[in-house]
Amino acid sequence: MIILKSKEEIAEMKKAGALVAACHKQVAAMIKPGVTTLEIDQAVERFMRSMGGSPVTKGYKGYPFATCASVNDVIAHGFPNRQPLRSGDIVKIDIVAEFGGWVGDSAWCYAVGDISPAARKLMRVTKECLLRGIEKAVVGNRIGDVMHAIQSHAEQNGYSSVRDLLAHGVGRSLHEEPNLVHVGKPGRGLRLKEGMVFTLEPMINEGTHLMYVDDDGWTARTFDGKLSAQYEHTIAITANGPIILTA
Ligand code: MF3
Ligand code: CO
Repeated sequence: MIILKSKEEIAEMKKAGALVAACHKQVAAMIKPGVTTLEIDQAVERFMRSMGGSPVTKGYKGYPFATCASVNDVIAHGFPNRQPLRSGDIVKIDIVAEFGGWVGDSAWCYAVGDISPAARKLMRVTKECLLRGIEKAVVGNRIGDVMHAIQSHAEQNGYSSVRDLLAHGVGRSLHEEPNLVHVGKPGRGLRLKEGMVFTLEPMINEGTHLMYVDDDGWTARTFDGKLSAQYEHTIAITANGPIILTA
């Protein structure tokens, strides 16, 4: 069942989203060669709690950290660790906060030092995929319109869109219905209604969309070892168009 949100509830969700965005500002200020993703994780948790929020990922199905930190070929759900980031890396930091009983979820891809032109292009196109998807997230459109915009932009650039990890409804809990795959056909699938709140979180790979999960049970990597980028926002569908709650 999809739980529709009222205008008032969406306004409350925007506070949780704003906290996630503020956490990302902290991350952006820390990213540089030599910093570790564990240091970033601890700074985010401290900041989030200082603002009255709490990290939803910590303890979620046993996930041990306040953030996910996914470097280079790691698509998502990487563990923060003590290995210093190096110039040329790209790192996706995924942050989920609960604030006032509502959840916000946003992942962002960061460049560490000087990255290759290929990595820079992957990041640019992936961000464009997210924004093109959001543009299509209007009342009356179908989810296939949204996901086709994402998939086709990725594929036109020679990339692939991950199928095995999904976008999802967000509300009082992190994962609500619907679950949504970032590929689709125009005019197909769920019709978008006012009050729906869900993530769009395209994971775009340089090579194959296929992935595998490490023995830790979480770390999702590209099958071919090539780079993957991700940008994620939580959005609300309203009569006046999509609102980005995690901006
Ligand atoms: N953005 C991720 C998701 O929606 C955050 C969850 S990570 C987990 O699935 F570790 F908590 F699962
Ligand atoms: Co998510």
